[in-house]
Amino acid sequence: LNKRILSGIAPSGIIHLGNYLGALRNWVALQDRPQTDCLYCVVDLHAITVAQKPENLRKSILNTAAICLAVGIDPAKSPLFLQSEVPEHSELGWILNCHVYFGELSRMTQFKDKSQKQEAATTAGLFTYPALMAADILLYGTHLVPVGEDQQQHLELTRDLARRINNLYGETFQVPDALIPEHGARIMGLDDPKQKMSKSAPSELNYIALDDSPEKIRKKFKVAVTDSGREVVFDEEKKPAVSNLLTIYSVAAGVSMGEAQRRFEGKGYGDFKKELAEAVVAYLAPIQERLRGWQSRPDDVRDVLRDGAKRARELAKPKLDEVKAKLGLGLWPAPVGGRK
Ligand code: TYM
Repeated sequence: LNKRILSGIAPSGIIHLGNYLGALRNWVALQDRPQTDCLYCVVDLHAITVAQKPENLRKSILNTAAICLAVGIDPAKSPLFLQSEVPEHSELGWILNCHVYFGELSRMTQFKDKSQKQEAATTAGLFTYPALMAADILLYGTHLVPVGEDQQQHLELTRDLARRINNLYGETFQVPDALIPEHGARIMGLDDPKQKMSKSAPSELNYIALDDSPEKIRKKFKVAVTDSGREVVFDEEKKPAVSNLLTIYSVAAGVSMGEAQRRFEGKGYGDFKKELAEAVVAYLAPIQERLRGWQSRPDDVRDVLRDGAKRARELAKPKLDEVKAKLGLGLWPAPVGGRK
């Protein structure tokens, strides 16, 4: 039996290098792993846990889907779909909401961070969102979930929920594993190496967006924060900023961390940051080229999403029906041959 892979990304005007190195890059690689079936989702229902302007959300959805395609998601291999187009996610999300405890959700660090930052507008959706994320995953019998480190806690909760449902109602859900990359699982902000690189950062100097121009990329690395001292060495304790930049360099240049450090022996931060910028410019160039292609054909992007939703629904419906039946919901047993 093939392994099911599923992951999701929230639609945003900015998809950054952290998203790519921590997650999207692996989404693409997994498509070619033998005996895997991948499904990828733009999670627009998650986006509305915070206030959104409809016209911006519409643009972000299309932008995010175009980026998924530009980085190499091949819709012929892996359905790419919009969460809100597969209503089974919401339905299972509700059911899981009724099985997750208030205390569990209260411990989610992402919720604590986000709710602290925007006190006035903490919606119930922001609080219960990990249950919807669990639904995204469990609906498809997912084995592996390629994500960055910041999603690990949500994955743990998803596993707990799967086991809880299995204990209560009999074997229903596959218990999924997170797939977190060895390098790039937690890319830090260029302006503050203590915070992760984030789409919602107040300054655009925090991140490299995948569609930043070469000039912008060069400028952002030029002003990126470094540490005291002058050696380009990997030491997360003593040199968090330089270590983050070295991680980006080693992935973008396609070399090991050891080789990356050797290349900058005896060189200062200035030279290092210049070469880093060029490596990232070259790394992103083919993605940006394909992105311009998809951006000029928004109807094609919509077609991909429409087709993806159709295929996802076919997979989601039987699982949701099974869950509802096990819980005693609906008018079961269904009449043989359907109702006349
Ligand atoms: P989102 O949209 O915030 O991020 C998408 C993916 O990018 C990873 N990521 C990072 N990786 C390394 N360094 C960073 N600085 C960094 N920032 C983000 C995230 O870990 C993620 O893998 N809740 C999820 C979306 C989601 C989902 C799902 C994921 C919804 N349903 C089901 C997997 C399965 C989120 O907000 O990701």
